[in-house]
Amino acid sequence: MVAYTQVEHPPRRQLLSPLRSLIICLAGISLLLLLSLGFWTRFGENGGQWSSGGEEQRLVCYYATNDAHNLRLVDVPGDLCTHINIGPAFLDNSSLVLPADLQRVLRNDSISFRSAHPQVHQLLWIGGADSGEQFAHMVANHDRRKVFLRSLREVLRTYPSLDGIDLDWEFPSAYNEERMHFSQLLYEIRTEWRREKRDKDILSLAVAAPEGIAFYAYNIRELNLYADYVNLMSYDFHFYRKDMPFTGLNAPLYARPQEHSLMGTFNINYTVQWWLSNGLEPHRLVVGLPTYGHSFTLVNALNRRVGAPAQGYGRCGSLGFTTLSETCRCVGNFPNPVYSFDPEACSPYLSMLHEWISYENQTSIKCKASYVRNLNLGGIMVFSLNSDDLENACDLIRNWNGKPVFPLIQTVKEVLDGPKAGADQD
Ligand SMILES: *[C@@H]1O[C@H](CO)[C@@H](O)[C@H](O)[C@H]1NC(C)=O
Ligand SMILES: *[C@@H]1O[C@H](CO)[C@@H](O)[C@H](O)[C@H]1NC(C)=O
Ligand SMILES: *[C@@H]1O[C@H](CO)[C@@H](O)[C@H](O)[C@H]1NC(C)=O
Ligand SMILES: *[C@@H]1O[C@H](CO)[C@@H](O)[C@H](O)[C@H]1NC(C)=O
Repeated sequence: MVAYTQVEHPPRRQLLSPLRSLIICLAGISLLLLLSLGFWTRFGENGGQWSSGGEEQRLVCYYATNDAHNLRLVDVPGDLCTHINIGPAFLDNSSLVLPADLQRVLRNDSISFRSAHPQVHQLLWIGGADSGEQFAHMVANHDRRKVFLRSLREVLRTYPSLDGIDLDWEFPSAYNEERMHFSQLLYEIRTEWRREKRDKDILSLAVAAPEGIAFYAYNIRELNLYADYVNLMSYDFHFYRKDMPFTGLNAPLYARPQEHSLMGTFNINYTVQWWLSNGLEPHRLVVGLPTYGHSFTLVNALNRRVGAPAQGYGRCGSLGFTTLSETCRCVGNFPNPVYSFDPEACSPYLSMLHEWISYENQTSIKCKASYVRNLNLGGIMVFSLNSDDLENACDLIRNWNGKPVFPLIQTVKEVLDGPKAGADQD
């Protein structure tokens, strides 16, 4: 069944001075009543999920329907992800807008997937990289939030295979009280869902990793109250930018020895620790890992270290994004690829002539997934199903039958399902 059904540990109480057994018995009964009341309250608050630390962890996978030509939802194995975020849906003048391809998936594949794999949660992914202004407009006052809530109710009624939403606002700011209004929106969604008897629906958020954004964007105490969990976008720490024209790793696990101060914060470990030390409950932290890579064009083909000067996106992939299939296929177009691995970052990179790519392979994804597993967090998010090596271009799957394969996400799943390192300590 669902991965994270756990037993909540009530606070242990000592009954001092044992009196008559009747009193103890009555006390016991009322304590039980209190605990069960407490349980139901929390059950409601947490959208139907138990709220203590977990044995099994979520594997949250994003599925992009605007890229659906390369992958159909029904081709995703039902035992791979515990949650699938399907989208993106957008906002227009505060109302939800579902593009035609998203509607098609929700009307059809999503229903088939639900009946074949009822244990997998399907969430509507709302927003994305360019969603900042539309969210800011929508949350700004009560009337607009009401418009949103009305359109959300409509969408959830229209598409019964959905059992939650993932809000991907990139990013709220402290200006114009966006952070406060965002918390208000979350509260209003919960209140609305309680009224509609949708208490079990899941409310998750995709959140920024860099502390320079996260510090201003979120009231973490309120996220603990209203969000079931947050998907930490702990990737895109480096990609080609005109104002930072250097190669860099997409999702380094730790800082490299030569990275200090600000540069030393652009890694998974730093941002995970930042979120935890700033108060996010550990079981609500779902750590994001990429399946895609970033490509760069080197200035000098002989200077191909991490941090070498770059002059643009690479030729592999598009706009500097490469799916794992694209990375492996692209390698075939070049002579003498040079494969490297950064041990601290636990990340491979490869260069060939002027092309330079930071990507993930099974070694790096295993290493990063194990890090998350051993911290007992809320699970792992993967962006995205679409950008794994669906076409087996890297030849990681033997006896391939031609159906889409997910060697990276499969590796994540094996780590989450496997034993914890140092499990004997607890
Ligand atoms: C946005 O919605 C409001 C009411 O919900 C409406 O009055 C207004 O005309 C809309 N604006 C545009 C540009 O469609
Ligand atoms: C759903 O897809 C199947 C297979 O492609 C097709 O046969 C069926 O007509 C579709 N159903 C709807 C409601 O579009
Ligand atoms: C992980 O991050 C924490 C907090 O910033 C830091 O103290 C620790 O040294 C980091 N671990 C490694 C191996 O860099
Ligand atoms: C990942 O890449 C590194 C660097 O090329 C390599 O040493 C390692 O064997 C690769 N892992 C797998 C599973 O291929």
